[in-house]
Amino acid sequence: MKSIAIDGPSGAGKSTLAQMTAKKLGFNYVDTGAIYRTVAWFLTMRGADLQQADEVEAALPDAKIEITYDEGGAQHMLLNGEDVSGKIRTPEVSAAASKVAAMACVRAFLLQMQRDVAAAYDVVMDGRDIGTVVLPDAKVKIFLTASDEVRAQRRLAELQAKGEKADFETVLQQMHERDRKDIEREIAPLRCAEDAVILDTTHLSLEQSEEMILVFIEEILKG
Ligand code: DC
Repeated sequence: MKSIAIDGPSGAGKSTLAQMTAKKLGFNYVDTGAIYRTVAWFLTMRGADLQQADEVEAALPDAKIEITYDEGGAQHMLLNGEDVSGKIRTPEVSAAASKVAAMACVRAFLLQMQRDVAAAYDVVMDGRDIGTVVLPDAKVKIFLTASDEVRAQRRLAELQAKGEKADFETVLQQMHERDRKDIEREIAPLRCAEDAVILDTTHLSLEQSEEMILVFIEEILKG
């Protein structure tokens, strides 16, 4: 099976670009952030104290997490049979997800699940540690980045498109906080794999970024 790893901070364009790329290549798209969000949602609904690792670890076996796709290729997250895809896209779940993502028991719980998907299908997988930890042997590794301001602007536009009230300063500040947690955590922190190619999308349109990614992937896959 072939794997393409796309990592980077939030708002760099990972999900959109990874999904587009998967569609073009006929690969399965796996948004691993959605998996962490689903765990965060599960633990919040449970009322688990996210500061207590033993409480979180004890709750995890009750979370049956499945990934499905609709006809358009969009990923849906099922938690114990319920589609929670809409519920996991709030700022509260984002904040909880970056907390649970720092916990060793959560990362261990999800590691095999992500590797199993990549063993079963050709995948374009996006996240923070795909090229470094989850799929260190991925055929192609891309690290997407963009300036803080552009990333926050993109996040803001996403929230506004969903009809949510948000302002630039708050979005920027929440993004900094999440980035800090993702970069500074001890286990599987956000960082660029040594063999990844870095693509800065600050001044690129979505189409330009996609074009560059596809050219790069083609070169590696044929080489
Ligand atoms: O990409 P996202 O914003 O949906 O990710 C949600 C959180 O999960 C974010 O704080 C980073 C974390 N995450 C992670 O630690 N490792 C991954 N492979 C994917 C996401």
